[in-house]
Amino acid sequence: MSSPATVNAPEYVKHARLAAWVAEVAALTQPKDIVWCDGSQAEYDRLCEQLVAAGTMQRLNPALRPGSFLARSDPSDVARVEDRTFICSERAEDAGPTNNWLAPAEMRATLQTGPSALFKGSMRGRTMYVVPFSMGPVGSHISHIGVELTDSPYVAVSMRVMTRMGRRVVEQLGSDGTFVPCVHSVGAPLEPGQADVAWPCNTTKYIVHYPETHEIWSFGSGYGGNALLGKKCFALRIASTMGRDQGWLAEHMLILGVTDPQGRKHHVAAAFPSACGKTNFAMLVPPAGFDGWKVTTIGDDIAWIKPHADGRMYAINPEAGYFGVAPGTNAHTNPNCMASLTRDVIFTNVALTDDGDVWWEGMTDTPPAHLVDWQGRDWTPEIAKANPGPDGKPRPAAHPNARFTVAATNNPALDPEWDSTAGVPIDAFIFGGRRSTTVPLVTEARTWMEGVYMAATMGSETTAAQAGATGIVRRDPFAMLPFCGYHMGDYFRHWLEMEHKLEASGHTLPKIFCVNWFRKGADGKFVWPGYGENMRVLQWIVQRVRGEGGGTEHLFGISPRYEDLNWTGLPFPRERFDAVIGVDHQAWSQEMKLHDALFEQLGSRMPAELATTKQRLEERLAA
Ligand code: OXD
Ligand code: MN
Repeated sequence: MSSPATVNAPEYVKHARLAAWVAEVAALTQPKDIVWCDGSQAEYDRLCEQLVAAGTMQRLNPALRPGSFLARSDPSDVARVEDRTFICSERAEDAGPTNNWLAPAEMRATLQTGPSALFKGSMRGRTMYVVPFSMGPVGSHISHIGVELTDSPYVAVSMRVMTRMGRRVVEQLGSDGTFVPCVHSVGAPLEPGQADVAWPCNTTKYIVHYPETHEIWSFGSGYGGNALLGKKCFALRIASTMGRDQGWLAEHMLILGVTDPQGRKHHVAAAFPSACGKTNFAMLVPPAGFDGWKVTTIGDDIAWIKPHADGRMYAINPEAGYFGVAPGTNAHTNPNCMASLTRDVIFTNVALTDDGDVWWEGMTDTPPAHLVDWQGRDWTPEIAKANPGPDGKPRPAAHPNARFTVAATNNPALDPEWDSTAGVPIDAFIFGGRRSTTVPLVTEARTWMEGVYMAATMGSETTAAQAGATGIVRRDPFAMLPFCGYHMGDYFRHWLEMEHKLEASGHTLPKIFCVNWFRKGADGKFVWPGYGENMRVLQWIVQRVRGEGGGTEHLFGISPRYEDLNWTGLPFPRERFDAVIGVDHQAWSQEMKLHDALFEQLGSRMPAELATTKQRLEERLAA
C-alpha cells in the first residue's frame, strides 16, 4: 500500500481540529495527494484546464461563450438520487416517514468503519481537494461554514462558483471556529496504471446526513446536489435541523426585492418545488406597462432567515451562484438568466453546436440543424424523431435536467444587498405548487396558521430534477419534501411555533401567500401566461403587504378580484381570469380528502392545530 498523503496544510490554516480531520479522512480514503483550495482565479483556471485535459469538460468557443465550459456526465449520473439520500438520526422517528433512514452506527459501518466500508480507499489514485466554504456572506451572523473534502475537481470548481470558497473562509474559521464536515467521493479509485474515465462515478450511491452531529458523507455521484454538498445537503437538510434547534428557518426559497415607482422596496421569499420556474421568478423582468417597477435577485433557490432584534426576519442567500435548469430557459422566459449565461459558465449535459456554443430544448423555437447531444452523439431533428424517448417524444439534445453553474455576480438584476452580512428584511412568504387544477393563481392566508396549512399541503407534479417519472402529483410540503432533515411533522410544528415565539418577542410576521402559475384549461394548455406577467401577482402581493389592494375572501383566504390586478399591457379577459382564480368546491372536496394521506403518514407528530384547521376548512366547504 502507498504511504498516506501528507496533509500539506498551508500556513494560513490555524485550525488544528480541521487539519486533524483532513488527516483522518485521508487515512480512510487514501488519496494520492491533498490540495487545499484557496479560491483564487488562478486555481480555478488551473483546475478547469486539468478538467479539459481529462476530458471531463471542454472549452466552449471563446468568441461566443468566453470563459465557459461544457461537461458531460455519465448517463447514469444526471440528477439528485432521492431514493439513495438518507437522514441518519439516532432514532428513526426523528427522520420521519418522508426520509430514508438508517441507524448512524449501521450507516457508518457501511461507509466508514466496516470491513468493506465504501470510503475505505475510495480516493486511491486521486487528489483530495479541501474546499472550505461559507454558506452566506463571510462573517454574517446568519452564515455558517462548511468544509468539503472531495476527490472531484469538477466539484471543487463548481463550489468556487456556488459558494464563497477558499482562504478567506479558513481565516474566518480561525483556530477553533465551527464547521460542518462534508466528505464526498465519486467512489472510483484508480489502481496504478488504470486509465481514468471522463466522468468517474459509482453505481452504488449514498447521500448521507447525520443531523445530530451535523456531518455529510456522499458517495458515488459527481452530479449537482448529490456532490456540491453546500447546497441541498448542508443549506437545507442539515441547516433545517440547525434552524429547528436554534429558532430560525432554512428554506427552499428564492429571495427577491421588488421596488415600486415611488422607490418603496419590499422583499419576498418564495418556495417552489424543483424546476417550477423558480429561477425565472427570482429574475423576473416586469412587463411593458410596469414602468418604474424593478425586481432584483437576492437568491434563486435557498433562504436562511433569522429573527432580528429590530422585530423583523432577515434573510440571506447562503449560495453565491446559480445551479439552474437550462432547458426551457430563453430570452422570453428569463432574459436576465440568458444575460447571466453569456460568459464564465460551466454547462453540464446541454447540447453542443457546430460552432462550439451551447443549445438546449426551448432556447430557440427552431433547433440548429446539427448538434452533438449531451451524450456526445450526433443529433439532428431527424435523428431525434427516429429515436423517440420512453415518452414517445423526439430524443432531446440536452438532458431535461441539464444545468448551468454561474456566479450570482453575472446576473444583471442582482440586488445591491445580495451579499449584505445583515441580510434583507422579509415582508412576505410565497408558496407555489405546480397544479393543473384546484389551486388558485394567488391566495393570501388570513392567518399564519392557515398559511402554514396551505404550505404544508402543497401538491406538485414532479419534474426532471428528480430521478424517476415526471408529471405525477405528490405532496411537497413547503417544497421541502426531499430537503427537510428531520420529521416533517416536527418541521410543521417549528413553523407554527415561530409565530408564537416571534410575536412574544415583538416581531412582525411576514404575510403568507400561495400561488399557482400552472392551471390548465379544457384544451390542456396553461391559462396563465406566467414569466414576466407574474409581476401582476407580485404587485398585488406587495399592495397587500402595505395594507392596500382589494380582494375577496373565499374558502381558503383572500384572492384578488379581476379589477384588483393591474392589467396594463395584457389582454386577459375576465373568463380566463376566472379559470385561474376560481375555487371549485367539488374539486376541493376531493383535494381535502387527499390531504388525509399526509396527515396519516405523519401520524402523531402532525400538529393537532393543523387537523383543526383542516376541519374548519372542511366545514366551510360543506356549508
Ligand atoms: C434544485 C432542485 O436543483 O431543487 O434546485 O432540485
Ligand atoms: Mn431547488
